Amino acid sequence: MESLRALAVPPGAAILDVGAGTGRNSLPLARLGYAVDAVEPAPALADALDAEVAREALAVRVIRADALRDELPLQAAGYAFAVVAEVTSHFRGAGDLRALFERLARLVAPGGHALVSAFVSAPDYEPDATAREVAQVLWSTFFTPAELDAAASGLPLALVSDDDALAFERAHLPEDAWPPTGWYESWASGQDLFGTDLVKPPVSLRWLLYRRD
Ligand SMILES: C[S@@+](CC[C@H](N)C(=O)[O-])C[C@H]1O[C@@H](n2cnc3c(N)ncnc32)[C@H](O)[C@@H]1O
Repeated sequence: MESLRALAVPPGAAILDVGAGTGRNSLPLARLGYAVDAVEPAPALADALDAEVAREALAVRVIRADALRDELPLQAAGYAFAVVAEVTSHFRGAGDLRALFERLARLVAPGGHALVSAFVSAPDYEPDATAREVAQVLWSTFFTPAELDAAASGLPLALVSDDDALAFERAHLPEDAWPPTGWYESWASGQDLFGTDLVKPPVSLRWLLYRRD
């Protein structure tokens, strides 16, 4: 919501929600007047989203597909904005992130933006295989800064902002909506993965905003 306001994306614009779940973002975006295409592969979640869309008669098209591997019935360069929230933490590695970025580069219109949340590791941290495997089990798959750069390399996507997600959400959510869930703070800070006795774990969730050149 904050990015759309800051970028002055007008109501009616087409928005892509990748890994929409039950519509935590798709539904409020549609209520603001955006035309949302929501990609969601889990049938139970897509069913719940479909039911709410029908109940409120919202402009959300639910596409039941894997956004990385399936043929998507979506318009190339068709979106002013794409949101990929809390999805890359489910990925199996940097190859999945590259596949996502290739699709975003194709689907977002020139001049449009893609907002992606991702766990990124500290520059001086060298993860071993165990950390990467445990991260997957804890829905905390992370990428090194070099992997993040490589995923966008050669694509018309320019990183325009990179914010700590936990600090951003704490600053922007209404006081009575904090914390958003019982697990959000320890997950987004990297403490699920590295333990609560580390003051600053070497990975944290970021909000990454890319401009499609
Ligand atoms: C934690 S939920 C987040 C849902 C929603 N984006 C939100 O912010 O509330 C992660 C979602 O990503 C979806 N997901 C994971 N891998 C995906 C893929 N390859 N393509 C599309 N969706 C995917 C899951 O099915 C799930 O709905």
